[in-house]
Amino acid sequence: MGNKDYFLTWSSQRGGTTVSTVGGQGVHLKMSDGSSWLDLGSLSYQGNLGFGHPDVVSAIQKQAGEMCLTMPNASFPVKDELARRLLELAPEGFTKVFFTLGGSEANENAMKIARLATGRHKFLARYRSYHGASLGALGLTGDFRRPPLEPGIGNVVHILGQDAAHLEEVMELEGRGSIAAVFMEPIPGANGVLLPSPDYWPRMRAACDDHGTLLVADEVLTGFGRTGRCFGFEHEGVVPDMITVAKGLTAGYAPLGAVLVHERVASYFDDAVLYAGLTNYAHPLCCAAALASLKVYEAEDLYTRAATLEPGLLAELEAIARAQPDHASSPRGRGLLAALDIKGDPAFWERLGQAVAKRRLLLHLSERRGTAIFAPPLIIDKVVLEEGLRAFADALAEAGSR
Ligand SMILES: Cc1ncc(COP(=O)(O)O)c(C=O)c1O
Repeated sequence: MGNKDYFLTWSSQRGGTTVSTVGGQGVHLKMSDGSSWLDLGSLSYQGNLGFGHPDVVSAIQKQAGEMCLTMPNASFPVKDELARRLLELAPEGFTKVFFTLGGSEANENAMKIARLATGRHKFLARYRSYHGASLGALGLTGDFRRPPLEPGIGNVVHILGQDAAHLEEVMELEGRGSIAAVFMEPIPGANGVLLPSPDYWPRMRAACDDHGTLLVADEVLTGFGRTGRCFGFEHEGVVPDMITVAKGLTAGYAPLGAVLVHERVASYFDDAVLYAGLTNYAHPLCCAAALASLKVYEAEDLYTRAATLEPGLLAELEAIARAQPDHASSPRGRGLLAALDIKGDPAFWERLGQAVAKRRLLLHLSERRGTAIFAPPLIIDKVVLEEGLRAFADALAEAGSR
């Protein structure tokens, strides 16, 4: 049930459900019936700071009092400082930020930048990927959300798996030097938390260099500490040409995304026109939310915190897989992004959904993909995390006991 006046996303309107939320505090989301739910998924992977973080809230309020709106090319303190900080977080050589309103638009604009800067039109991405809902970003996307909307922009080649030799071969077969950019999530998130083999990113980087192809790290989900470092690609020992971010950039407190661009690409636009722009480019309220979030990540040392909590998270998932071998397997993860493969018939999945709801847990359960994904806010307390995972273990045992 719920309000019928607006569309529900990613579902038929009869098949979908809504929940009625009123707020939240820390890692708990509060519903209108007074119940409090433990968020083990950071909502849609954006709520890295949980709910009601006072620093972010007051930064937005302060900015609202000073200047709510301005022109896209205006300069103002929070925008200027945010861009500077983002470039400091990126590897050496990144010199420009392009602001957007979310992750899809970040990838969309990275595609445009790649096309303009290389003069090529083809892209390469993985089947097990999600890069956004707008048509260009959906064209990059490999998962089930793309086919119903085809034909898209075309000229996107998709590859399977994590095999670097396959990627190298496809790039060659597509025509030497024909691909403008390769788009990759450092760890495909919603598509199953797939950790790359150690040679994947270095060989991909080398193949891109060989072909004059740009490498874009889609850090929309993994950015800002999710994997235990600021960016997911930092684990891979390579430097991309562009980095797309959103979600954790504002910890979900306002809609903002960005493309961080290396000087070797950015300098092309010193004289060439950048055919890209948005009415709400670098919106002041969103910049204030982002700048405050980045300061909180730093002040509370949250990237390190995610790395510190990783062993405990994985140990709990391993215990679940050992205890429930018929239903749970392949515990894996990095930082505070982890998954289990979950197996069961449709009735089992229904019971699991109910058992999880009964325990007031929020996480990413997908029957279609056979996964349970855990991505708690980076501020989560170790004990609360363990309690939440044990509650999930109980839910799984309950669902499997019939
Ligand atoms: C890796 C990745 N890229 C892009 C997007 C799209 O971001 P948005 O929903 O903010 O447009 C998402 C969203 O889930 C994502 O996970």
